[in-house]
Order: sequence, then structure tokens, then C-alpha cells
Amino acid sequence: MIGIIQRVLLDLLEETGGEPLKFAVMDRAGVPHDRDFRIDQNYPDDECLKLIQGAVDETGLSEDAINVLYAKAFLKEARNLFPQFFMMAKSSEQFLLRQATIHGVIASGLKKPEERQVVKDKFSARSIEPGFVEVTYRSPNKLCGLFRALAHEVAGIYGECLTVHCADCMKRGDDACRFELRWEKTAPDGILSSE
Ligand code: HEM
Repeated sequence: MIGIIQRVLLDLLEETGGEPLKFAVMDRAGVPHDRDFRIDQNYPDDECLKLIQGAVDETGLSEDAINVLYAKAFLKEARNLFPQFFMMAKSSEQFLLRQATIHGVIASGLKKPEERQVVKDKFSARSIEPGFVEVTYRSPNKLCGLFRALAHEVAGIYGECLTVHCADCMKRGDDACRFELRWEKTAPDGILSSE
């Protein structure tokens, strides 16, 4: 998993509960306290999953609650680091249609081609009709709750509202998750909320 994911989680934990909370979660995941997670480097997926589980265990919050808090923190950081991705999309529909491509762009910073490919293979998106996007997500990490939280948060950034229906789900034994994203109304072009 590319290091931005873990870094945002650890920053969020530190902001919320200071170093004691952050270090307690790192200890649970067996991550050394001086680890500097980098955006151009890949780290073991199971370590990232242990950090997420550690955050659940240490805070007493549910995984869904952590996902919502995480999605807000992650997209705030993403808007700071990559404002162009948000400027390019005039609506959350356009943004979410490009999300798989955005992952591919970030993965191009990894040195090993096989690591870049793993990131690219996780998502694909297609427009079925205006107001209806289908996203396919295939990953042993099964972070479909995180997908939902991020999708809703992106809609909020654009002042929009969407529904996410998990038509197929890896957690129900399907080979991949198939998300049906639907918008009833969209905000006027170019409306991005301030942070
Ligand atoms: C500018 C916005 C975004 C950036 C820069 C970004 C970047 C990343 C990166 C670098 C990873 C790690 C990939 C890996 O190592 O395999 C990742 C994972 C993930 N992202 Fe995004 N992302 C963005 C937006 C989104 C949005 C909007 C969603 C959902 C609607 C999303 C859903 C996910 C999920 C579910 C994972 C975990 C995948 C897995 O390992 O199974 N991302 N993202």
C-alpha cells in the first residue's frame, strides 16, 4: 500500500489523541515509531490493515466511524497535495469516474512495474448513463467500507449527494465489489466547497 494511506491515518490519530494514541496503534501493528511513510513507496498491505484494526481497537470506534473520519482527513490532504485532480472535475460524478485513473497517476511514482500494476488492477470505472457510474473494485484488502466513505465525502466536497449500492461484494463472497453510484441532482458546474 502506497504510504500516503498510512501517513494520513497516523496524522489523524496524532491530531486526535497525541503521540500516545499514535504510538499505541503503531505498536499493535508492529510498526516502529520512527517510520516515515512516503507517498512514492509501497509498504506491506497487511501492515496497513493492522494499523486500521489497531485504530479501531485503541479508539473503541467502529470501523465505519473510523472510515468516515479517515475519508474527511484523507480528502483534505489530497486537496492540498493534488488540487489539480479536483479542479479538473466539475462534479463528484466526473471525479469518481476518474478515481481509478488518479490511483494510476499516483502509482506511477513507484519504481517497480509490478507494484504499479497491483495498484492499477484494483479499480476500474465506467459511465453507464448520466448520473450513473459503475465502479469495480478487486483487492484482497476488502476496503469497501472505505470506498463508500470516500465516495460520500467527495460528493460532499462538491455540494452533492449520491447513493452507493454494492451490487456485488467481496465480503459476501463475490470475486469483486461492484458499486453502483447514482446521483439524483448535481450542483451547478464548478462548485467546490471550501475546506
Ligand atoms: C485525489 C484523490 C485520491 C488519491 C490521491 C488517492 C490515492 C490512493 C492511493 C495512493 C492508494 C493506495 C493504493 C495502493 O497502494 O494499492 C489508495 C487506496 C484506496 N483508495 Fe484512493 N485516492 C483518492 C481518492 C479515492 C476515492 C475518491 C476513493 C473512493 C471513492 C478511493 C478509494 C480507495 C480505496 C478503497 C483504497 C484501498 C484500496 C486497496 O488497497 O484495496 N480513493 N488511494
